[in-house]
Amino acid sequence: MKKTLVFCLLSLFSVGGFCQASESSISIIPEPVSLVKGAGSFVLPENISISMPASPELNETGQLLKQKFAVTGRAVTLVGADKVSIIELILNKNADKSLGNEGYTLSVRGAGILIKANKPAGLFYGVQTLLQLLPKEIESPVPVSGTVWNVPIVEITDYPRFGWRGLMFDVARHFFTKQEVKDFIDNMARYKFNLLHMHLTDDEGWRIEIKSLPRLTSVGAWNVKRVGYFGTFDKPAPDEPRNYGGFYTQDDIRELIKYAKDRFINIMPEVDIPGHSMAAIVSYPELSCTAGADKYQVISGEKFIDWHQGGFDALEDNTLCPANEKVYPFLDKVFTEIAALFPFEYIHVGGDECAKNFWEQSDAVKQLMKKENLKTMDEVQSYFEKRVEKIVESKGKKLIGWDEILAGGLAPNALVMSWRGMDGGIQAAKLGHQVVMSPTTFVYLDYMQGDPIYEPEVYATLRLNTTYEFEPVPEGVDPKFILGGQANLWSEQIYNTRHLQYMVWPRSLAVSECLWSPREKKNWNSFAKKVENNFPRMDLEQVKYSRCMFDPIFTAKKDANDSLLIDLSMEVEGLDIHYSFDNSHPDNFYPVYKGPLSVPKDAVMLEVVTYRGDKQMGRQIEMPVDVLKKRAGLIK
Ligand code: ACM
Repeated sequence: MKKTLVFCLLSLFSVGGFCQASESSISIIPEPVSLVKGAGSFVLPENISISMPASPELNETGQLLKQKFAVTGRAVTLVGADKVSIIELILNKNADKSLGNEGYTLSVRGAGILIKANKPAGLFYGVQTLLQLLPKEIESPVPVSGTVWNVPIVEITDYPRFGWRGLMFDVARHFFTKQEVKDFIDNMARYKFNLLHMHLTDDEGWRIEIKSLPRLTSVGAWNVKRVGYFGTFDKPAPDEPRNYGGFYTQDDIRELIKYAKDRFINIMPEVDIPGHSMAAIVSYPELSCTAGADKYQVISGEKFIDWHQGGFDALEDNTLCPANEKVYPFLDKVFTEIAALFPFEYIHVGGDECAKNFWEQSDAVKQLMKKENLKTMDEVQSYFEKRVEKIVESKGKKLIGWDEILAGGLAPNALVMSWRGMDGGIQAAKLGHQVVMSPTTFVYLDYMQGDPIYEPEVYATLRLNTTYEFEPVPEGVDPKFILGGQANLWSEQIYNTRHLQYMVWPRSLAVSECLWSPREKKNWNSFAKKVENNFPRMDLEQVKYSRCMFDPIFTAKKDANDSLLIDLSMEVEGLDIHYSFDNSHPDNFYPVYKGPLSVPKDAVMLEVVTYRGDKQMGRQIEMPVDVLKKRAGLIK
């Protein structure tokens, strides 16, 4: 109370602390609930004192502030909560109910900066916002000179719309090191995500040490390195060295959990069963119902699922057999160790894309169906999920699974993660189950961000502006069932951490705003501008991101004479598209696109590039006319 009074008085009288507002616009992502901008700005003094509560939960927050402000070249000291300081972090003695557990208020006045919250998480988020108010050089990894360290005068009140703000990281298809996971966590924290879902097991690798089942990692964590298009590789020869992959020891996991917790992020483990389980089957073939499973190998990206119209069949049986009584004690061991490691209340048990064609052939499964009166293969999976739920609950945890777990009857207390669109989530919510929305249609980070002609090709395209339309609460669904949402980064086609970042950013900026900010505050044009303003920060942070938002969208159509007509459009406003058909690279002196283009006779290539004024914004793109003709159905 006393200190706050000092702060207010200093605010009134410290006119010298004001100066001309820097021209830079305020670009906070995710958009705060309320931001009132005052006149002028606060200039960081030569000595920066930061006072904060002596809570171990805030140690990392203090270190982060110290480390960030060190780049200013000023002296930075952390002082106790009762000391007068330039930057004050205060925990409210009487909770401000509107802020909840993660909200905060942030005041930048002429005398200094004050962040208040009910809980440490709120102070941490207030600090993230403060960093975004500072000049971008605050993100420099090394001290900088010549920057004017202004912070605009503002009053911010902020709290999240949803309590579940997740990103999923598939470390199974390709293994990423502990340090790479920490870097991923650091980037999540900047944008106020609070849940890292780690997809720890799949056909291509088992990534977590289970001490009672050592083969899961001595065998199941290793395959043969292949690069190119996942799912098309030749099957490795039996004697090829299996030395690609890796896993996290239990000590590694504890370290990651602590690292994430210090940044107010929970880690949720996923063990994807009963499908997607080849790494487990290869480690312990007795878990299969299929003869010959002992000859299988951990998948390296060769084709082993036949995707066809209306479904898919496994060419090798990658499932845990629900009719095999050895499977359940195996899972009991796995979940005993997982539950002991991860404090988060949910364990994700997968459940997606389970091929049933080997079950259909299995005598053991047929007997199980007879005994349990199960009529369909979906009911067989549901039988499995219900037994798994009992195991998970016996460890004091709750079960969450992908929306396939709805088919054949949902386990009684299951939380559903809706990925095949929103329908699974809607159905689960109507059954009174809690839901996390993570639909392919809006938040699949493995999908391309632009046209396959200029992006590394993968299943589908999902542009930034579509992701920004993500609305986790569908019409007609009681919001109380929707815990929130998350975006999923599957790594089949992601071989290294730079490309990982490229796929995650900037789409996860859109996801963060969809999950944190009030719905009515969302605005695509201002968000796009904020993203653009954020890119120089990411450059300083040395985080790779995609600039696809500055590249055109090609739409190929037939005109009335069955000739090709090409529409070009943009996600963001204010850019000119310059083009050529003469095989030369256009620049801002070339024609500007004004409307649908017909192709000049004999032209083979449309080349395009975007500019804002004289600044090139997009890439030089070469689009073969024949590709567009194919898209328009004019040639095969
Ligand atoms: C999924 O994308 N298979 C959950």
